[in-house]
Amino acid sequence: MEGKQKENYTTHGILSNFGFMLREQWTFEKKPIFVWFLCILSDLVVSLLGIYFPKVVLDSIGKSISSSEFLLRISSLTVVLMIFQYVSFFSEQSVIIGATRILNMRFYIGKDWKSLDMDYGIAMSKEGKMRIEKAHSSINRNVYVNMASYYINLVEFLKSILGLISFSTVILLLNPIVILILLVTYLLDGIVSIKIQQWEISVKEERAVVNRCLGYVLDDISNSLMAKDIKIYKMMNWINANTSKYINEYKQLEQRVQRKYTIQRLIEAVLIFVRNGGAYLYLIWKMFHSDMTIGDFTLYFGAITGFGQWLSQIVERISSLSNANYRVDDYRYLVEMKDHMKREGGVAIPDVKAPCELRFEDVSFQYDDSEHIILNHINLTIHKGEKLAVVGNNGVGKTTLIKLACGLLEPTSGRILFNGIDIRKFNRDDYYKLISASFQNVCLLPMSIAMNVGYDNNTKIDREKLNEAITLSGLKEKIASLPNGMDTELVPSVVDGGINLSGGEMQKLMLARAIYKEAPLIILDEPTAALDPIAEQEMYLKYNDLTKNRTAIYISHRLSSTRFCDRIILLDQGTIAEIGSHEELMKLSGKYKELFEIQSQYYKSDMEEEKREKKKRDKR
Ligand SMILES: Nc1ncnc2c1ncn2[C@@H]1O[C@H](COP(=O)(O)OP(=O)(O)O)[C@@H](O)[C@H]1O
Ligand SMILES: [Mg+2]
Repeated sequence: MEGKQKENYTTHGILSNFGFMLREQWTFEKKPIFVWFLCILSDLVVSLLGIYFPKVVLDSIGKSISSSEFLLRISSLTVVLMIFQYVSFFSEQSVIIGATRILNMRFYIGKDWKSLDMDYGIAMSKEGKMRIEKAHSSINRNVYVNMASYYINLVEFLKSILGLISFSTVILLLNPIVILILLVTYLLDGIVSIKIQQWEISVKEERAVVNRCLGYVLDDISNSLMAKDIKIYKMMNWINANTSKYINEYKQLEQRVQRKYTIQRLIEAVLIFVRNGGAYLYLIWKMFHSDMTIGDFTLYFGAITGFGQWLSQIVERISSLSNANYRVDDYRYLVEMKDHMKREGGVAIPDVKAPCELRFEDVSFQYDDSEHIILNHINLTIHKGEKLAVVGNNGVGKTTLIKLACGLLEPTSGRILFNGIDIRKFNRDDYYKLISASFQNVCLLPMSIAMNVGYDNNTKIDREKLNEAITLSGLKEKIASLPNGMDTELVPSVVDGGINLSGGEMQKLMLARAIYKEAPLIILDEPTAALDPIAEQEMYLKYNDLTKNRTAIYISHRLSSTRFCDRIILLDQGTIAEIGSHEELMKLSGKYKELFEIQSQYYKSDMEEEKREKKKRDKR
C-alpha cells in the first residue's frame, strides 16, 4: 500500500545501542561520564581493600610488630578506605541516579516530540501507534528498569568486570581449579536467568495489549470529560466488568511470569550449595595441609566470596543490560522512524496571499487498521476563490477528506494537486503554511486568548488582525466581558487565574484562529456544531467576509447550513454522490433534497424556539 511504512522490527545490536546511549549522554551532559569512571575506580579500590585489610591485621598480629607501626598501618589503610568509599557512595547515589532520572525526562520529551512531529498519518497508523506505545513503556518513571537504567547497569557491569578480574588474579594464586568450579556453577546460573529474561521479553507484546486495554478503562475513561456521559448512560457496569476482565488477564500474565522466576530461584539455591561448599572445603583442607597463614586464609576466603558476588552481579547486570537494551531498541524504533512525507527540500510553496486551486485526482483512501475503503476514486477540483461545502452523514469521510487536503494523511492511491503541483512535492511543513483549518477537536495551550488565536512561532501578534478575527468569529462580546480581555489566560489547571470557555466559545476561538492565519485555503470542519442556532446564523452571514480572498471548504452534516457556498458536494459511500449549487441539488430531487427536507423541519422548530427564548431574555 502506498504511503504506509512497512518496516519490520529490528534490533540495533549491542554496540550500536552503546554508541547511541553514549552519544545521548554526551550531547546532553558530559559530567556524568567522568563520574562513572570515578565511581568504577573507587569501587574497585574499596573492594580490594576490603579483602586485603583483614589480612594485614591478622598477619601483623602474627608477626608481633610494634604497636605504633601496627597503628600506623591500620590508620593509613582506614583513611584510604574511607576516602574511596565516600567517593564511590557519592558518585553512585547522587550523580548517577540523578543524571539517569534527568536523562529519562529527555527521552520522555524525545518520545512526545517525535509523536507530534512525525507524519500524522504514520502516527495514526497501526504501526505508528504500536511504536509509540512501545517507546512509552520504555521510558517509565522507574529509574531501575526504564531505558535510562542502561547507564546505571552499564556502570555496574563495568565495575563488576574489573572487580572480577582483580579477584580472579588473587584466586589464581591459590588454585586455578577453584576458579573453574566457581565459573561453571555461575555459568549455569547465568544461562537460567537469561533464558527467563528472554521469555519475559516475549510476553512483552502480550503485556502491551493488556496495558493498553487497562489504560483505556483506568485512565481514558476516568477523565472528567467522559464522567458526564458515563453517569447519565449508566455505563459503570460495563466499566466494572471490563476492568475486572482486564485486571484478571493482567494477573494471569504476571502469575505466569512469577512462576518462571520461582523455578529459577530453586535452581539457583542448588547451585549455591554446590559452589560455596566445594570452595570452602578446599580452603579448610589447605589450611591444615600447607603453610597458609590465617591472614592468607581470610584473603582467599574474601576473594572467593567476592568473586561470586562480582560474577552474580555480572550475570544480573547482563540481564538488566539486555533488558535495557531492548528498551533502547524500542525507543530508537520510534525516534528513528522515517517520515514518509518530504521533510527537506521540496518545491517552493505558492504565495500565501493569492487564492489557490485544489484538485483531487482519483483519490482513494483507506485507514490501515480498517477493512473499509473510506474514499473511493474521488475526482474534484476546487477552483480559485471557490466556497465549497462538503456534506454527508456522520462517518461518511468528510474529516478524512480534509485531512487528505491538509496533507495530514496521504492518499492510498491517486493524488492531490495544489495549484497543479502534487502536494507531496512540497516540504510537508511548508505546505501547512498554505492551510488554515479549524478541526472538530479543540486544541488550547495554557496561554492568553490572544496567543491562542495568533500564535505563529512566536511572531508578534497583529492586534488589528486579531480584533478582526475575534469579531468575525463572534467572540467579541465574550472578550469584552473579561477584565483582561484578549490577554485573559486559558487552561486554569495549568495557569493560575486562567479561565474555562464553554464548548461554543472554544469553537469560536478555533474559528478565530483559522481566520487569523493568512493562508490561501481555509477549511472549517463542522465549525458550528457547538454553537447555538443564532450564533450559527450569524456565522453564515459573515461567512463571505471570513473567507474573503481564499478558497474555502466548509464541512457540515447539516445541509441547510451550506446554502451560502458556491458548490456543494454530497458524500455517500465513499463517493461524491451529488454535486452542484443548493438550487441545482434541490432540482435533482435526489438524496440531498431528501436529507434537506428532513433536516429543515427539525431545524426550523429549533430556530423558532431559540428566537423566542432570545426575545424573552432581551425583554428582561
Ligand atoms: N484513525 C482512524 N483509523 C481508522 N478508522 C478511522 C480513523 N479515523 C476515522 N476512521 C473511520 O473513518 C470513517 C470516516 O471518518 P470521518 O472522516 O471522521 O467521518 P466524518 O467526518 O464524515 O464524520 C469513519 O467510519 C471512522 O470510523
Ligand atoms: Mg468529521
